[in-house]
This record gives sequence, C-alpha cells and structure tokens, in this order.
Amino acid sequence: MLADNLKILLGTQFAYYVKAHAFHWNVETPDFYQYHKFFQKIYEDAYSAVDPIAEYIRALGDYAPGSLERFLELSIIKGQTKVPRARLMVEELLANSGQLVELLNQCFADATQENKQDVANFMAERLSQTNKFAWQLRSSLKDERA
Ligand SMILES: [Fe+2]
Repeated sequence: MLADNLKILLGTQFAYYVKAHAFHWNVETPDFYQYHKFFQKIYEDAYSAVDPIAEYIRALGDYAPGSLERFLELSIIKGQTKVPRARLMVEELLANSGQLVELLNQCFADATQENKQDVANFMAERLSQTNKFAWQLRSSLKDERA
C-alpha cells in the first residue's frame, strides 16, 4: 500500500540523510575536500526529499512518522555508528542508494496502481536523482585507467 511504503521511504530517506551528513563531517583522506563536498551534495539532496515524502503521506490521509525512534523502526537501511574509511563510506552509500532505488520503484508502482500520478511523478524524479548519485559513487570507486 502506498501510504505504508511512503512511511518506510521516509524513515529510510532520513537514515540515509543522517549517514551522508555524518560522513561529510568525519571523512578523512588526502582528497578530503572532494569527499567533503561530494557528501554534502548527497546529504542536501537526501534532506530535500524528506519534507515532500511526509507531506504526500498527509495528503493521503495518514499521519507522518516524526521521531527518530519511528524512523529507526521504519528504515530499511542501517545507521553507521563508526567512522569508516573514505572508500568504505562511498561503498556503503552506494549500497544504500541501491536499496533506496528499490523502495522508490516500489512506491512508484504503488502510486501508479492507486492512480496517484503526482506521487508517481515525484518518485520518478527521486529515482533520477538517486541513480545519478549512484553512478557518481560507483565512479569514485574506480581506479584511474592506466
Ligand atoms: Fe558542513
């Protein structure tokens, strides 16, 4: 059901936002500034999705979950309590963005099924943005060509 999956998406999107923001703070590497800025782009985008998702839940007649406890219950991605190496941060965000894409696809399918084209349109935009970051994360893991 769309509203239920939107709640899962809200918790997951928030968890992803928090993780990317913490990576922005804590990353350590000779290429610090590059990673610091890259993670900022990711967390800003992730955060920008949080409010619209909550408001779509409201528009569907449900209440939006609004506590860290609920987000933690709902999120399909785990938080990161340690400070991984820069490369592992990128790998983790890439894996999580794949989970987000699956969830966005599910919400898109639900929205289409329930004839909520406005929500489907938003999901399509989120898919576009999330896939773009996934490509950028994936490319950051590649070594330079010889
Ligand atoms: Fe900052």
